[in-house]
Amino acid sequence: MRAEIENSLFAGMRHEQEREGPPEGFPPLPMIPVGRYTDPRFLELERIHLWRRSWLYAMHSDELPKPGSFRMWRKTGAPIIVVRGKDDRIRAFYNACAHRGAPLVENEAGHTQGFFCRYHGWTYDLSGRLIAVREKRDFPGLDMGCKGLKEIRCERLGNWVFINEDRDAPPLLDSLGPIPRHFDNLQLETLRFIGSKSFDIACNVKVLLDAFLETYHLKSIHPQTVDRFLDSRGTFNVLWPNGHSLMATPHRRAEWRDPGAVGMPEIASAERIYAHQNLSYNVYPNLVTPISSTGIPFCLFWPKSAREMTVEVHWFAPEAAQDHELWPTRMANFERILEEDTQFAPRIQESVESGGFEGLVLSYQERRIYHWHEELDRRIGAAVPEDLRVKPLLAPWVEAA
Ligand code: FES
Repeated sequence: MRAEIENSLFAGMRHEQEREGPPEGFPPLPMIPVGRYTDPRFLELERIHLWRRSWLYAMHSDELPKPGSFRMWRKTGAPIIVVRGKDDRIRAFYNACAHRGAPLVENEAGHTQGFFCRYHGWTYDLSGRLIAVREKRDFPGLDMGCKGLKEIRCERLGNWVFINEDRDAPPLLDSLGPIPRHFDNLQLETLRFIGSKSFDIACNVKVLLDAFLETYHLKSIHPQTVDRFLDSRGTFNVLWPNGHSLMATPHRRAEWRDPGAVGMPEIASAERIYAHQNLSYNVYPNLVTPISSTGIPFCLFWPKSAREMTVEVHWFAPEAAQDHELWPTRMANFERILEEDTQFAPRIQESVESGGFEGLVLSYQERRIYHWHEELDRRIGAAVPEDLRVKPLLAPWVEAA
């Protein structure tokens, strides 16, 4: 992150603390129709155009420690093998044999020299190439070079591996806009994977994700935790192209430090803003990360069905912090805050399905949620049902990438 970005964030937070209302010309935000959370037509469009065509965080390269290490990844519904090749490159393939579709991998994770199909014995190497066919004499004209495993786009930001089922998607780093520039002093290549946890919640994925795009709820949901050290009146939101956004919130006291992380080794090159303020990024669509110089949590929001979702938290930290004794406490503290965030979600889901709730009424401070929905409509395109569209309004308030 360059000094001018850091200075603009500090200035933005100061301005937020002092402002009397939204800036001149900011439009009132129309209601977000509740059908976007419940209507099967809309949820199917969202599944196809968003979840199966976005760059999605899959795993850290530490989770595939050596050539031949693999893990199954199923977050979009499709069974996907992510594997480290002999050339150390990480690739992703559908877990589908090109002969008649049997699975190549039957365990959720492990190590292999290649992929052997137990149905009729076709064999593939770690780069997905078909290298052996049993009774090849009975497949005259079979072009083995065209029958490799079907590869899926798989690219990295530092050691973070992202997957996109859209073969025509722009490269990951292009699609992330200014985010890699913000992270350029975090020594991403040196961060290690610490651990992860996941929880299922009985709500549509957007019901919970919304809560992580605003700080309006801090005073009522987190009075004994987050609200004690963050000043939500100073939250400065930045909207970026492709649906990404940032929420910078000042600490109430400049000298405040997370007690669960005091004494932990820091990312030496991280800017002071990461130690002294709360910067939470939304990497569109479903990754929320409040960066800290002592450790980075990725909060990931995954749909399971129309009214069920999974939230995952993955932690990363500098190598020197990897085995620090404070990790169990720190992660438990974070989960306590997550429990506060999730406490109403199943009952909000009941409300959105009840017929007694028409849609979301959003304030200026909650505009990242509107920005998120505008991007969803851009991705779905003309197929969005007329009655469920959100009016595109925020373009003049989006910062250039
Ligand atoms: Fe794999 Fe037949 S389905 S070899």
